[in-house]
Amino acid sequence: MKKDFISGAEFPLSELKRIISAGIAYKQAALEGRYEALPDLSHKIVTLLFANPSLRTRLSFESGLKKMRAGVNIMNTGDSWQFEYQDGVVMDGGKQEHIKDAARVISQYTDVLGLRNSELITTAASQNSVSSYESLRADQPIRQLAKYATKSVINMESNMYHPCQALADMMTMVERFGVDGVQKKKYVLTWAPHPKALPLATPHSQFLMPAMFGMNVVVAHPEGFDLDPEVVALAKVEAEKSGGTLSFTQDQAEAFSGAEVVVAKSWASMRYFGRWDEEKTHRAKFTDWTVDAAKMQLTRNAYFMHCLPVRRNVVVTDEVLDSERSLIIQEAENRMWAQMGLVAYLLDTL
Ligand code: CP
Repeated sequence: MKKDFISGAEFPLSELKRIISAGIAYKQAALEGRYEALPDLSHKIVTLLFANPSLRTRLSFESGLKKMRAGVNIMNTGDSWQFEYQDGVVMDGGKQEHIKDAARVISQYTDVLGLRNSELITTAASQNSVSSYESLRADQPIRQLAKYATKSVINMESNMYHPCQALADMMTMVERFGVDGVQKKKYVLTWAPHPKALPLATPHSQFLMPAMFGMNVVVAHPEGFDLDPEVVALAKVEAEKSGGTLSFTQDQAEAFSGAEVVVAKSWASMRYFGRWDEEKTHRAKFTDWTVDAAKMQLTRNAYFMHCLPVRRNVVVTDEVLDSERSLIIQEAENRMWAQMGLVAYLLDTL
């Protein structure tokens, strides 16, 4: 049966735990040379569409799928026809193919589809002013692909969510604390400085999934960097269900106190959406939010995590990134194992 992984919250917690346990088991099997323990996905095909650049997402999916002997089609959407995502429009403009047709056609060639389409990731923030935040937050490309594809769809990062990153982050924490041991651990997601206005998808997923797993989640950010209220509401419901907590603070030191995991991430101020010069001026006030060793000293010897790519000595200092408590490389590696678990789950081979 078709199962779409868009925010991650579509799946029950028990299924997310199964996927992560599978990822951990595959990693261990490969370490021991027991490759026969990996699922055999011969004759299965996964098609991955990229509208934005990627290093980890693309290569981790491709490597993981090859380890399971699946075929992989990778296409930059810029190499195809331009997709129309709006239903019922008269297509007499520049867009040549409706997603309704493309999604159903790709579904004939493939067993799982993935899409990375974040219109908030651009080389120049000024390009973002073409769409309103209200229209971008509807996440039409991934939602319409999922609506019309007849096979399971994986969100490889949209405007609102990056659930594959969150899945790998959770796997990395489960490896250290255990699947039930993550419950009630103090997990801090801190805003960090950056020269560019970055999207909200990753931070959204980075507080939603730990809340689903019952962690005590604290999000620290300067004023004006509030995250999307619908995602916050969803995460609060999930935290309540799992016995976790979710709180927000503008006091970074207070957040770090007693933290067991610190995740750094920058994101744009939606207060200034489309007015990027003003956003930049506001963002520039908070250069003292860089994560450094002195701040990490406030924690309970916390692990440090970042999704990468990272601007060294802007978001976080070299000292923290290269410390023994830094998990950045393991986290990136786990993209591959966790996604292998996800694809095996979507193909009913777990
Ligand atoms: N973290 C992450 O998604 O990396 P890429 O953008 O390189 O895929």
